[in-house]
Amino acid sequence: MKKLAMLTLSGFLYAACAHAAPPTGGYIVESSPDMPGFTRIVVSKDKTGYSGYVTSRWYGDLPMKDIYIEGDSLSFHLFNGNMRVPEYPIRITPAKDGGVRMEGRIWDSSFDLSAYPGDAAQLKALDFPLEHLPPHRVVKGVYHAKTPPMGWSSWNKFADTIDDRTVREIADAMVSSGLRDAGYVYVNIDDGWQGERDANGVLQPNAKFPDMKALADYVHARGLKLGLYSSPGPKSCAGYAGSYGHIAQDAKTYAAWSVDYLKYDLCSGEAFYHTRDKVYATYQQMGEALAATGRPILYSLCEYGRFDVGSWGRDVGGSLWRTTGDIEDSYASMAKIGFDKNGIPNHTGLVNGVSGFNDPDMLEIGNGGMSFDEYKTHMSLWAMMTAPLILGNDVRTMTPQTLSLLTNKEIIAVDQDRLGAQGLPAIKDATSEVWTKKLADGSVAVGVFNRADQAAVIHIDWTRLGLMPAAIRDLWAHADLGLDQASALSLPAHGAAMLRVRSAG
Ligand code: GLA
Repeated sequence: MKKLAMLTLSGFLYAACAHAAPPTGGYIVESSPDMPGFTRIVVSKDKTGYSGYVTSRWYGDLPMKDIYIEGDSLSFHLFNGNMRVPEYPIRITPAKDGGVRMEGRIWDSSFDLSAYPGDAAQLKALDFPLEHLPPHRVVKGVYHAKTPPMGWSSWNKFADTIDDRTVREIADAMVSSGLRDAGYVYVNIDDGWQGERDANGVLQPNAKFPDMKALADYVHARGLKLGLYSSPGPKSCAGYAGSYGHIAQDAKTYAAWSVDYLKYDLCSGEAFYHTRDKVYATYQQMGEALAATGRPILYSLCEYGRFDVGSWGRDVGGSLWRTTGDIEDSYASMAKIGFDKNGIPNHTGLVNGVSGFNDPDMLEIGNGGMSFDEYKTHMSLWAMMTAPLILGNDVRTMTPQTLSLLTNKEIIAVDQDRLGAQGLPAIKDATSEVWTKKLADGSVAVGVFNRADQAAVIHIDWTRLGLMPAAIRDLWAHADLGLDQASALSLPAHGAAMLRVRSAG
């Protein structure tokens, strides 16, 4: 009986709404911490029916397709090119005060956003100016690092909670801990420092960074260098202002603040630059803009290894280029990148007289998600790969064990070796790998990795490595090893050994 009454009621309500129609017009989406950062909704109706688009702060105007009307609600999918963005339909319904409500779900996040009617000028203000891409050139005059850059970055530990005070404390700790003297000189602020643009379009830092020039001076006074982060798109990955439409202007701003390093992260630029040609051109734009400032600003490309970036990264001015998506603080993530996603070795080192380095992402050592032995493997692999060593931990509070992993001079020497060759696995089986890397003095670094979940003894077949050891050094232990000792290495689960071998003859 009760069920019947409810059915009748919903039938009545449906009938009552049947004459209602979905709202049309332009609406500005109220800013909200919710994913996915929509800014504008425009719905129109003509004799062919409803159409419209939603502006995403990352991807620009995304058209509504598969429109479905029920009463006063309008459901649709958004498309980015041929790609349907949310798997589930998004729904717009009228809200009080003449606004609309937009509900939906993207990946694992549901959103329920309010939007209010905007006039033409307000809606127009949400447009992005168009960037015109230059013809391809090889960028001249950008500073190139001769060895893989070493330093610290805020992202892995602090994400966008980073602030001026923490950066200063980190700079102090880099000095007092001995990290600076071990070679870690860059202090890089990753995503989350950007504020709004002023009336002239000049980007300001946000409230957490009251005076960027003063911060740079503070960092420089300690014998360190300051790095910043931006994106070729309108928004950074974390949703802050990107350099789209302001590339040369932003480069000048960095130089005026005395910035020494820029990480340039594709992010929302994906929407505009989705071919190799376009990604090259936009990275070239910033490379040329940095060169034009006359300041030696080291240029770090972050486009996740797309379009064979190692083959052109140095041509657009890059000293390093990411070969992978983001690392996480787990053995699985680190091992996947370190063993398998380290870029094409020939791209690292000196090519046509210009140095550059594959970048398998920043270090997680000291962040707590891996064991001591796993972090030792992390450091060993990155040194064997000739990878940039950008620390990602809180160096103010690290343990002596962490510091010992980061400052072992003999391991750092392998990473920074002036030959700049990238190490490679020479022998692999199901649970172990032995890597070799040629060093400038004619010796060879040998990295021995136990990938098993339990301890193992790993036997080294020197002949297969092409080596006839005359002298063997255990780099982690700072000890010379006899041939027998070095030929059967006991390694803990997920552990590593690093040797430096001088061959006879
Ligand atoms: C991307 C990059 C990361 C980090 C974040 C910041 O995910 O790959 O290294 O810079 O953006 O938002």
